[in-house]
Amino acid sequence: MEDKITFTITRRKLTEIIMGLVALFFAGGALASILKYLWPATAAKGESVEIKIANVDEVPAGSVRKFMFNGKAAVLLHMPAGFRAFGSVCTHLGCISYWKPDENIMFCPCHLGKFDPNTGAVISGPPPSPLPAIDVVVKDGAVYALKWKDPAYVKTISFYAGAA
Ligand code: FES
Repeated sequence: MEDKITFTITRRKLTEIIMGLVALFFAGGALASILKYLWPATAAKGESVEIKIANVDEVPAGSVRKFMFNGKAAVLLHMPAGFRAFGSVCTHLGCISYWKPDENIMFCPCHLGKFDPNTGAVISGPPPSPLPAIDVVVKDGAVYALKWKDPAYVKTISFYAGAA
């Protein structure tokens, strides 16, 4: 006696299963985005975290280090007065600003926005507000990002940079 189990599946049924899996995949992504929006990560709520950006010797005076903080592009600058960190998403329309050492500014190429690299303040151009500052600390030979100085402000740039 032979015990044999056979499955037959039609092409139509197989297509329905694959379409169902694809729909589940996208529904899961949408649900994850909603949950992430409703319960943002700790640093976005203004609570302090400690994220290592770099060893101090990797960022000599006058240089920068790009990093991600709370899901947003950020930059660490080693200025003569010490380390400064800002979100690098421009407060105008969300382009990524970058360090321009020849002019000693943070520069947004989209509409020529210029920011002070020490404070993040707008120097010129259309940005309506400063780059969001990030508190940093130097500890055990490394620089750590702690939190957004003004978490309420960061929520306004989430519109451009994607919710964190
Ligand atoms: S997006 Fe930066 S100046 Fe317009």
